Amino acid sequence: MTESFDAVDLIVAKRERRTLETAEIDWLVDAYTRGVVADEQMSAWAMAVLLNGMDRREIRDLTLAMIASGERMSFDGLSRPTVDKHSTGGVGDKITLPLAPLVAAFGVAVPQLSGRGLGHTGGTLDKLESIPGWRADVTPDEMRRQLADIGAVICAAGGDLAPADKRLYALRDTTGTVEAIPLIASSIMSKKIAEGTSALVLDVKFGSGAFMQRREDADELARTMVDLGTDAGVTTVALLTDMSVPLGLAVGNAVEVAESVEVLAGGGPADVRELTVALAREMLALAGQPDADPAAALDDGRAMDVWRRMVAAQGGDPDAPLPEARERTTITAETDGVLVEQEAKGVGVAAWRLGAGRARQGDPVQAGAGVLLHAKRGDRVSAGQPLATLLTDDSGRIPRAESMLRDAMRIAPAGTAVEPRPLIAGRIAADGRTRPAREARAR
Ligand code: URA
Repeated sequence: MTESFDAVDLIVAKRERRTLETAEIDWLVDAYTRGVVADEQMSAWAMAVLLNGMDRREIRDLTLAMIASGERMSFDGLSRPTVDKHSTGGVGDKITLPLAPLVAAFGVAVPQLSGRGLGHTGGTLDKLESIPGWRADVTPDEMRRQLADIGAVICAAGGDLAPADKRLYALRDTTGTVEAIPLIASSIMSKKIAEGTSALVLDVKFGSGAFMQRREDADELARTMVDLGTDAGVTTVALLTDMSVPLGLAVGNAVEVAESVEVLAGGGPADVRELTVALAREMLALAGQPDADPAAALDDGRAMDVWRRMVAAQGGDPDAPLPEARERTTITAETDGVLVEQEAKGVGVAAWRLGAGRARQGDPVQAGAGVLLHAKRGDRVSAGQPLATLLTDDSGRIPRAESMLRDAMRIAPAGTAVEPRPLIAGRIAADGRTRPAREARAR
């Protein structure tokens, strides 16, 4: 086969800041998928993109080319509107668990294709797999049936969605090119658009426990993804949320399921409930129900009913006791004062070291491992008061995790002011406007 372009020309073009034509981008992705463009060429090109960027049309072309490399799902014919949610991931981020059944309680279909965790942010499937009997693998037919009957499904994404992205993402992981915003945005959105949802709400996080440390970068990523969704005909809205402290009090697998169930029962930590309700409002508005009251559906048991049916449909027993770690150690405050720091990344790495996460794809995770926090940033604490409990099946993991966790927390003298940080810092919709925190939260 005669090739239309040459990989070296396209690498040099990006190196020299030229805008690539649609046909060039289509060829590059297709030739990479066919093995004509080598990994080292694609990584050089990814580095040129990281350094020199891409414009909106190029990012859209890259996204569409990655979608075209695989299958596209379609939920046409379902009697319910479909709305999906994607979070860029954070420490203690279990929001998908209560959110999918909550939104489904309003008659909306929520197809939630999720992944397993790598590194210090946990994966939704790892969390759900701590429920005895629950299985992540669902056939496309089963998925459709579950969406039609129950409204919510959280399951593993098949390998056929955007396979070019799968290869490129693995390559970026080993070549220092993960952080390029055009590449992150096209990677996430190619999978979401290929999933066939008609509307999408993004939770783009910033802060120490997030992928994007800086608010400005999260803003740019959110705006880029909203543009991509809009250009592809998927109505997309993004909330920008603070991930400098963990979300909720539980970080791990079974402990995060337990906390999600508390939220579904109308309780749970205030921040987890706040974000669940805010995202549900956005999803319901996109599904044509701007006046729906998701908080009420948490309080009156409607969301819990859907959760129980959703878990049972995938073989899980919603009444079975969740696995517990064999070993537990509690850290206490050494002095009186105010907890002024509870750094999300440190807490996430501690949970990961305890066995809640994996270092390499395919490693097993411990269902019961993790960290339970007993105080939140800004709380007054007294000497001897429990701050956190470490959970693991393997006591040898405790010392390194404990030192990480201690380093993540700092107590300052009583009376020290702690600057409040709103959890929901902004909202970006198709008009491209970023609304300030107060307006975003008031919605
Ligand atoms: N998640 C993805 O799916 N892709 C990225 O590039 C980053 C995070």
